[in-house]
Amino acid sequence: LSPRGTRGDVVILRVGPAASPLGGDLTPPGDKSISHRALIFACLADGETRVEGLLESEDVLATAAACRQLGMRMQRENGVVILQGAGRDGLQAPAAELDMGNSGTAMRLLAGVLAAQPFDSVLVGDESLSQRPMMRVVRPLRAMGARIETAEDGKPPLRIGASDGLQGIDYESPVASAQVKSCVLLAGLYARGQTSVREPLKSRDHTEKMLPAFGVDLAGQCSVTGGSVLKGATLRVPADMSSAAFFMVAAALIPGSDLLLRNVGLNETRDGIVRVLKSMGADLEVRGIRESGGEKVGDIRIRYAGRLRAVDISGALVPALIDELPIILALAATCDGTTRIRDASELRVKESDRLAVMARGLETLGVNLTEYEDGMDVTGGPIGCGEVDGEGDHRCAMSFCVLGQVAPGPVTVRGCHNIDTSYPTFADDLARLGGSVERVSDG
Ligand code: S3P
Repeated sequence: LSPRGTRGDVVILRVGPAASPLGGDLTPPGDKSISHRALIFACLADGETRVEGLLESEDVLATAAACRQLGMRMQRENGVVILQGAGRDGLQAPAAELDMGNSGTAMRLLAGVLAAQPFDSVLVGDESLSQRPMMRVVRPLRAMGARIETAEDGKPPLRIGASDGLQGIDYESPVASAQVKSCVLLAGLYARGQTSVREPLKSRDHTEKMLPAFGVDLAGQCSVTGGSVLKGATLRVPADMSSAAFFMVAAALIPGSDLLLRNVGLNETRDGIVRVLKSMGADLEVRGIRESGGEKVGDIRIRYAGRLRAVDISGALVPALIDELPIILALAATCDGTTRIRDASELRVKESDRLAVMARGLETLGVNLTEYEDGMDVTGGPIGCGEVDGEGDHRCAMSFCVLGQVAPGPVTVRGCHNIDTSYPTFADDLARLGGSVERVSDG
């Protein structure tokens, strides 16, 4: 289990038009957010953690590699990943810089852990991650007493100095960010007293849901007590709603499609795409709802239901579908009417400026749109074909691959290499279910 190092490669996919409806069933890969947390918490735990369904994508492998550098041991047995924790006070000083690759989650969550350690460490990332804002975690960590330096403008690398103890904090975050929330709570596990986080809108709550499985009591609050000890856990990672979303939209777009997506995580802080597809008129049914490892999961059946209706998306709904906005923008390009997205300025500081990257690609395909600082208006209509660029952003690249299925001719999607950060089998899954996708270059 180590990163395959495809970063920097040029991967170009030629997609569409789909020759037939999509059909069959698919268990999308494991949830990325939950997988990062499973590894980090297991690293801090005493004893053994067993994880079924861990996502083995480049982002998660970066977290795994960092946890190993900090002293966690890791092996795989029959699809179960078995982790021997270093223990909260047993982490070892890394011998080298910790490379987080493309992953903001890895960098921001591990910053919370490392800020509390009695040794120095350095967190670095790829070209995209090196442009992302880190002050959102540096500020609260410094307020807790951490010593952290950033590069210019609060960007990575993060140089974290040995800590001689942190102080608990009641942090009111200016952004609804699960990465910030989780970073502060992780640091709080080591701080004196109580640490709690409040946020303007509710962000994904996987940290709060998973810590109790490791024996940490949050007493129903977004709050931890310093000195809490983590004990190894047994976890099952559901399929990632954010990966399933590409296939939900593909089935909604391609006439005659009928897909069953199995074992998808339905956490209510992540299911905004399901709510939006239903309000657009999609034929979508959630079945077999059950609980698995503290998370709600179920199967999603989605069938083509003709042209969907435009919607408005803003406010509290945005954090519940933040990573699905690129594919929603792609879908909006085919809907009846104008879809209006607002309150989504966070999209500009993801793996790319997703509003700009999606606007460039959609305009190339002839889509009528207006870009705003915090969103976009997209008016649906017939789309054209041509060459678009995912610009190294996995979710933008996959969104163009899905939209290309309903173009009148082939669409070339450049900049697809980082699809491996979240969904290494995306192209194979799309082809197996009936989509048209071909790799034309891998640099
Ligand atoms: C994530 C939180 C979100 C999300 C990201 C994963 C997490 O980011 O966009 O893909 O696992 O905590 P923010 O915390 O920046 O909102």
